[in-house]
Amino acid sequence: MKKPINRRSFLATAGVTATMALGRRAVAGANSRIRCGIIGVGRRGTHLLRLALSVPQVQITAVCDIQPVHLERGREMVAKAGQARPAGFGQRGPKDYLRMLESNDLDAVIIATPMQDHGVMAIDALQAGKAVLSEVAACMTLDECWGLVRAVEASGSFYMLAENVCYFRDCMAVMNMARQGLFGGITYAECGYVHDCRFLHFDPDGSLNWRGQLARDYVGNLYPTHAIGPVAQWTGINKSDRIVSLVSMTSRSFGAHNNASKKYGPESPQSRIAFSKGDTTTTMIQTANGAVIDLRYDTTSSRPHRTTVYHTLQGETASYRSLTGDVWIESKSEGYRWEPLTRHMAEFDDPLWKQSEDQAASSGHGGADFFVINEFFAALRDGRPSPIDVYDAVTWSSVIPLSAASIRQGNARIEVP
Ligand SMILES: NC(=O)c1ccc[n+]([C@@H]2O[C@H](COP(=O)([O-])OP(=O)(O)OC[C@H]3O[C@@H](n4cnc5c(N)ncnc54)[C@H](O)[C@@H]3O)[C@@H](O)[C@H]2O)c1
Repeated sequence: MKKPINRRSFLATAGVTATMALGRRAVAGANSRIRCGIIGVGRRGTHLLRLALSVPQVQITAVCDIQPVHLERGREMVAKAGQARPAGFGQRGPKDYLRMLESNDLDAVIIATPMQDHGVMAIDALQAGKAVLSEVAACMTLDECWGLVRAVEASGSFYMLAENVCYFRDCMAVMNMARQGLFGGITYAECGYVHDCRFLHFDPDGSLNWRGQLARDYVGNLYPTHAIGPVAQWTGINKSDRIVSLVSMTSRSFGAHNNASKKYGPESPQSRIAFSKGDTTTTMIQTANGAVIDLRYDTTSSRPHRTTVYHTLQGETASYRSLTGDVWIESKSEGYRWEPLTRHMAEFDDPLWKQSEDQAASSGHGGADFFVINEFFAALRDGRPSPIDVYDAVTWSSVIPLSAASIRQGNARIEVP
């Protein structure tokens, strides 16, 4: 890390941090439009663009993608939605988004490029004075973590991580329970992203794409935020608690190679790729208040698809497990028995869901994507603090480099800087 900032000192003073540092500057008044651009209009970007086009007051003024087909598809979507055809960028290569950031006709950008690019692109956008909604993870290295924090604090620009699992209906209900103290002291959380994503490793022409390159070139937990995001909110990480250290272990690697070999043949160049990423990586995280978070990541093991993400939460006086949808709450449950979470939804369902259930329902990821997009633009418009700010974004994403460091150092305990 080049220039250490003391995380504990900035978190301790977060409550009195200048408005600017938290990115609370409103970009538009209640009646004015927000001019937004998007970088990366692949699978995810196309979906986010569609949602953004349905938000009143949002005008998509620029689209950037290095693949001409994706760029034109994105621009066409905007025109078909009845808006002026947006400016197009990306034709001049991977850094062409910088030209887009120079535009005065742009208040905000959505970043939905490959994960390896998020940190640098977000820093560039913040420094250009644009508000940022970044796809997960926020960044891949500790330098990028600090760079993001500095860029938000120096620019006063707004930054939000598009962590949609935090907006899952059940996750929000559990958050409301935890905030009301029903769990008592939190002792343990188990969470994971376990989803066979090998079908996404290669492009149709057989070339290894960015996801495959991640599996080839990296070790560690490479996709932590869907799992740790909700748990960090429930346990008060960066508010009443903080992460102090972690230890990570990884398994041997079968899945990525087996997939390549089956798909392209045992003698193919693809089957000779040496994938570094172990099939399963687990990371044990210790918090200052004495909670332990057990975080699993596995995108290459063979297993039929059921759920992509799971969470449990254990406190002194309540327990929750998402895979069975059960909860037990000492002060509310009938006896010492698990009950369906649904039994408590009338009381703990989040107001966001109560208000917008119908609109959210069709938006993807159980409705959560609707809230990510709408909360981003609403917070920006109203000058509210970022719902998932840069401090949470980098804390959750720092698991990527820190878990890799632990594995490389023989499963060493790594202090979180
Ligand atoms: N939150 C979620 O649930 C969720 C789901 C899927 C993907 N994601 C995240 O979204 C991101 C994108 O994933 P995807 O599945 O859409 O990938 P993708 O490969 O389908 O799309 C990436 C797009 O970015 C473009 N691109 C690459 N480099 C660029 C550059 N320098 N400038 C402009 N455009 C560039 C590519 O041409 C492509 O169109 C990833 O970081 C992924 O982790 C999040």
